[in-house]
Amino acid sequence: MTEHTTGPSVKLDTPFGVDYDLVHGIMKNPQVHTIRLASSMRGHYRDAKALEALVAQGDPVHYEVFEMKIPQEVGQLQFCISKTYPGTVGGECFMTKGHYHAVPGTAEIYLCLRGEGYMLMKLPTGESACERFLPGRMCYVPPFWGHRTVNTGDEPLISFCVYPGEAGHNYADIEKEGFPQRVFKRAGKVEIVPAKAG
Ligand SMILES: [Fe+2]
Repeated sequence: MTEHTTGPSVKLDTPFGVDYDLVHGIMKNPQVHTIRLASSMRGHYRDAKALEALVAQGDPVHYEVFEMKIPQEVGQLQFCISKTYPGTVGGECFMTKGHYHAVPGTAEIYLCLRGEGYMLMKLPTGESACERFLPGRMCYVPPFWGHRTVNTGDEPLISFCVYPGEAGHNYADIEKEGFPQRVFKRAGKVEIVPAKAG
């Protein structure tokens, strides 16, 4: 992961505004800019060899997240713009790592701004859900549900999210468990398959 902390310009104990650009899918002066390359996605795709080939071919960006440094406290609201690039790894669509919240009983709302794809969700008990994600649609991720976005389109999938200030992120449990579903795109056809099946 590459994480850049930038812009000291905004005082967070006072109201502030943030500029964003939907054409490019960015927050213009984020205080935290996270960039996940293909090499940071090891262990997430079914076809590990295809991922290594992609890393060798230049290690392209999988997704970026733009945030402000909001205090991780009850009463605050975290928010971000995320941009997941189009592409496939052995036929499996580019996606985010996915996470639970470190404070599990915290929800999140995602609003799709551009592109198309799915929000995959799962509970630690294994129950899963999959919501279509495209402009005009938002997705509610209830407390305790892990979540990941998947880009099935040909352009970046751009979303806005907001969640409680104290929520934090837990990537480790999802990395161990994986998601029950995988999303493939072969010859232009999108398929959602059980993770254990072909
Ligand atoms: Fe989240």
